[in-house]
Amino acid sequence: MRTLLIAGNWKLNPTTAEAAVALAEGVKTGLGTATDVHVAVAPPFVFLSQVDGVLEGSPIGLSAQDMYWENSGAFTGEVSGSMLVDVGCTHVILGHSERRHGMGETSDIVNRKVKAALEAKLIPIVCIGETKEERLGERTEAVLLEQLSGSLAGLAPEQMAGIVLAYEPVWAIGTGLTATPEQAQAAHAFIRDWLTKVFGEATAARVVVQYGGSVKADNALQLLGCPDIDGALVGGASLKASDFLAIIKAGQEVTAGGKA
Ligand code: PGA
Repeated sequence: MRTLLIAGNWKLNPTTAEAAVALAEGVKTGLGTATDVHVAVAPPFVFLSQVDGVLEGSPIGLSAQDMYWENSGAFTGEVSGSMLVDVGCTHVILGHSERRHGMGETSDIVNRKVKAALEAKLIPIVCIGETKEERLGERTEAVLLEQLSGSLAGLAPEQMAGIVLAYEPVWAIGTGLTATPEQAQAAHAFIRDWLTKVFGEATAARVVVQYGGSVKADNALQLLGCPDIDGALVGGASLKASDFLAIIKAGQEVTAGGKA
């Protein structure tokens, strides 16, 4: 019922347009025209246009890593949803933990961005997840609750159905530590329950909830096989086409096995 979404979050990489184009070309060539899983890449803003040119004719979506909630005006340094659509974006990552924790982004700010992204007809990939201290202090569910209810406030069920969530435990991002499939599935089931309570069962069943945090070729199959994990948001392992393609292949395998 839900098609897996495997998205590559390139973060502040690579450092040249030439390398970004080469990476996109590698992913495009490796994927071909397969659409059994959805795939997207999220390069830095400055490479979006060139990567969009590479992706022409391929089913790969193009994502930004952030956006501002206003459409235009005196907001130095910001980029709007309509600008992202203009350069070919289909998706936008919002509320990544590196922005929540590194740049002070609150759930209220994320909520404004989510609404602006929907207005611009972009698919938001909204990130949530607890820190190590919060997990050890048994506050994981409370933190997820705050981030879900704050970031997704005021949305209609139909809007919610078009949003992708990414559960990314902060302690697993870029650390080589991965949540076990049991830990990840438990968090995803909690998120699905919350969606059911707030938006109803039919909507909750449609929302794609990705897992993120040190996803690699060798753990992807197990994670993606969990019933409430509908894809992966991949950082480090998306910077090499062959590594990213191996994760996509794991997604294709679980899909062929009847998961979707
Ligand atoms: P990682 O990053 O795969 O390098 O842990 C994931 C993310 O931050 O989206």
